[in-house]
Amino acid sequence: MGDPTPIEAKAHFAKLGDDLLRAEIAKEPPFKRRVVIGDCTLYEADCLELMPHLGAFDAVVTDPPYGINATKQTLGTGKKKFKRGNWDANIPRNILQVLDAGKYACIWGGNYMTQFLDATNDWLIWHKANDGLSFSECEMAWTNFGCQTRHLTHYWGGEQKRHPTQKPLDVIRWCFRHCPDDPQVIVDPFMGSGTTLLAAKLDGRKAIGIELEEEYCEVAVQRLAQNVLF
Ligand SMILES: C[S@@+](CC[C@H](N)C(=O)[O-])C[C@H]1O[C@@H](n2cnc3c(N)ncnc32)[C@H](O)[C@@H]1O
Repeated sequence: MGDPTPIEAKAHFAKLGDDLLRAEIAKEPPFKRRVVIGDCTLYEADCLELMPHLGAFDAVVTDPPYGINATKQTLGTGKKKFKRGNWDANIPRNILQVLDAGKYACIWGGNYMTQFLDATNDWLIWHKANDGLSFSECEMAWTNFGCQTRHLTHYWGGEQKRHPTQKPLDVIRWCFRHCPDDPQVIVDPFMGSGTTLLAAKLDGRKAIGIELEEEYCEVAVQRLAQNVLF
């Protein structure tokens, strides 16, 4: 046999790269903590590192950092004081590898990251019914659900706020209902206080959540473990 052609050599090294990546992944799953509660699995981890280990899901339903420094703003009614972290300073690099992990995706704050997302006519819009306050009256989720743009009017009430950008449970359950094929396994790579997982649990769906900050991961564990609507 003669020397490999440049194309054969390239294929050889690509395979070598894949093998090394697989070996690296098998060596050490990159998470600090994993907690399983019923059909929900919660990870304290960086989703950009962990997601390649987890495979594919029916749907990604998430609320990533918007890159607008939400933690530095006065949020909600201002009654609740939240820790001033800097997790919202930037949209994570390589976010697409995370958002692409499901057949379907619902991305809250998608209007802040249109450079990563295809044009869509399938926005889900939460109308907060808080007219007269200085905050946005609506929040927008990018989807590829094929559902046409829809809105839900939902006034925040009854749920204790444990995270500065927490979403109401009913809003997330409304999102699930617009997703085709009745998704059974949902991932939220930017779990925050665990709203997506709790919504999935209430619907009888399986869910996986990932959160970088220990404090919010703990809040999510408590919410899931207590199984009450707070
Ligand atoms: C917009 S908040 C989500 C709030 C959530 N929707 C709720 O109802 O509580 C985004 C969360 O992503 C987390 N986060 C940021 N970068 C991350 C990363 N690389 N991996 C995992 N979580 C991350 C932040 O700590 C923050 O809690």
